[in-house]
Amino acid sequence: MNNQKINVKKLIWQLVLLTLLIASVFGCGQTVAEAPKNINVGVVVYDQNDTFLSEMLAKFKDDLKAKTPEGVTFTCTVRDAANAQQTEDNAVSELLDGGCNVLCINLVDRTAPSDIIQLAKEANVPVIFFNREPVEEDLMRWDRLYYIGADAKQSGVYQGELAAEFCAAHEGVDRNRDGKIQYVVLEGQPGHQDAILRTDNAVNTMLDQGVSLDKLGYRIANWNRAQATNQVSQLIDQFGSAIELILANNDEMALGAIAAYDQKNITATDYPVFFGIDGTTPGLEAVVNGSMAGTVYNDQKGQADAMAALTIRLALGQDLSDFGLINGKYIYKDYYKITRQNVKNFTS
Ligand code: BGC
Ligand code: CA
Repeated sequence: MNNQKINVKKLIWQLVLLTLLIASVFGCGQTVAEAPKNINVGVVVYDQNDTFLSEMLAKFKDDLKAKTPEGVTFTCTVRDAANAQQTEDNAVSELLDGGCNVLCINLVDRTAPSDIIQLAKEANVPVIFFNREPVEEDLMRWDRLYYIGADAKQSGVYQGELAAEFCAAHEGVDRNRDGKIQYVVLEGQPGHQDAILRTDNAVNTMLDQGVSLDKLGYRIANWNRAQATNQVSQLIDQFGSAIELILANNDEMALGAIAAYDQKNITATDYPVFFGIDGTTPGLEAVVNGSMAGTVYNDQKGQADAMAALTIRLALGQDLSDFGLINGKYIYKDYYKITRQNVKNFTS
């Protein structure tokens, strides 16, 4: 009997203490500051040696640091898929096991995002794809999938306009004076949304602007400078000084083409004119020193900035309604034409 009384008293005291404890924690109905959150981003890139992407990711990390709110910690792990989709899928799996709460994925094969989508969905971790665009059907498979990139067609049209304007202003481009421009195109990886669309739109825009073209060849150099040097060397062996214009799907391949001419000690007056796309640091330098006639800015700054802002909002569970997402999923940054006249606006 006595023992029972003591137990009841003890229980009442315990309840009182518990009530006091709860009241102190929740400040009697006031909201208390939430515990600091952590932004843990996992990034996988198709090839870490890609110039455009390494420049973009350096900006992304800076932006992430600058935009992370006070009291929030962030970590960013970047993994290299080394051009193998399976390696990329494995990296995603490890990043998810490591507790990342947002994934930024630059696909190796843009038609093969299924495993990554499945893994992310199971872990309920949102995915921002960037630069290599999955088909719409894949992006619609879950409401936490996004894409940040640019409109490939626009870059092709701009490159074609730059080249047409240059030919109109410099009669000497037509070195053999046959009224046609003998040209070559260097293409990025087959299957990449930026390869075919850039080529087709650049060439068609030149034709629309009244330039007569004579195609000497197309070569695939997979966005890569060394491969472009190799391909263009072979073209020089085949065509000698007949090539008057080289359109490259990106700056790296344009620079590789220029290197092929330099290596063969071709007389300056026998060089074709070169156009790239990207406006990477070495690409802009080539425009400044005049070895490349022009390029098209692939807004790495804008894309990095948007990706950092979206990453933070997703990690902190913030509202996206004012973020300007097209169809709730897409951000496309505009391209800009760059010539020697305005290149200074892009070099700082
Ligand atoms: C860029 C290339 C880059 C490629 C990688 C393109 O948008 O213009 O320079 O190599 O993306 O996916
Ligand atoms: Ca000609």
